Amino acid sequence: MPQKFEAEHLEFDRMGIFREDYTSFLFDHIGLEPGMLIVEPGCGTGFLLRKIAKKQYSFGLLSRMSRKLHKKNRIIGIDIDPKLVHFGNEYVKFEGLSSVIDLKVGDVYNMSLVSNSADMAICHMLLCNIEEPLRAIKEMVRVTKKGGTLVAVEPDNSQNIYYYPKSERYTRLVQKANKFSIDGYKKVYGGDLSIGPKVPSLFLKTGLNDIQLYGHLSIVLSCGSQLKSPGRLLTTKEKELILGYNKKKWEEERKILSVAGIPKTEIDEIINYESKGINVLLEDSQNIRYDASVTAFPIYLTTGKKK
Ligand SMILES: C[S@@+](CC[C@H](N)C(=O)[O-])C[C@H]1O[C@@H](n2cnc3c(N)ncnc32)[C@H](O)[C@@H]1O
Repeated sequence: MPQKFEAEHLEFDRMGIFREDYTSFLFDHIGLEPGMLIVEPGCGTGFLLRKIAKKQYSFGLLSRMSRKLHKKNRIIGIDIDPKLVHFGNEYVKFEGLSSVIDLKVGDVYNMSLVSNSADMAICHMLLCNIEEPLRAIKEMVRVTKKGGTLVAVEPDNSQNIYYYPKSERYTRLVQKANKFSIDGYKKVYGGDLSIGPKVPSLFLKTGLNDIQLYGHLSIVLSCGSQLKSPGRLLTTKEKELILGYNKKKWEEERKILSVAGIPKTEIDEIINYESKGINVLLEDSQNIRYDASVTAFPIYLTTGKKK
């Protein structure tokens, strides 16, 4: 059974990941062309598709004209979770993108799309969450036109970097927990959080051509300028969201780390340390200016062409 995600938490998480450097990395390599029919299985709330739509249909000065010039619903998202699809379509509407994006409930292993119809099938953090990534890629190949493109953007959490200058012990505990969590995630959800560099070999198995692999390291320095406005005051709504997001994250961590064999005392220590850090931040968000913690996550982007 794949992991379940809350729409609000997925949105919040994606806002953190899709900083300018990450978005440029994606657009530099996925090869968008005007008018393409694009399909994203495992689209969640459609965060990536909304970025793509804004890029494709230049929602600036020429927005209305460019939207009219193109056919409707050229961007299709498919997800197994009806709640995510429902909230995703609300976000699409709110951002004025309903004429180009349509999110539907469906299964990546059996998409209700005609064979050879899409110019591009793209997935983002889907293959790492499912038990049969090769079967999913085969289905993405089926719906893609000859000469069309497949793109998979996937992590390799085994290479994550963690450094917490205020506690060497916490740094070591988190590094250890991260290594164990790959095994725990596989046992609990059947996904492979280190699938990123393995995707090209899966693409080859499906007969794709011209396979390319690109990488990006998403680095976060807590006090750094990558955060939009470090230390700005948080609204009550934002505080509630941060608390809810972390509560869910810690529940998941507990489940995965205990299955992976990390002792309960160590799991408690990690979560207590993290929870204190969050409370310090919620008391006064300026405190982030004095935190030089570093986390870094490698992301792999694989592209291939259908013969
Ligand atoms: C980590 S989320 C990624 C969501 C989105 N691509 C993003 O990056 O924001 C993984 C998504 O895959 C969906 N999913 C899992 N199994 C699926 C399946 N068999 N078919 C379609 N979607 C699936 C989940 O519901 C979830 O929305």
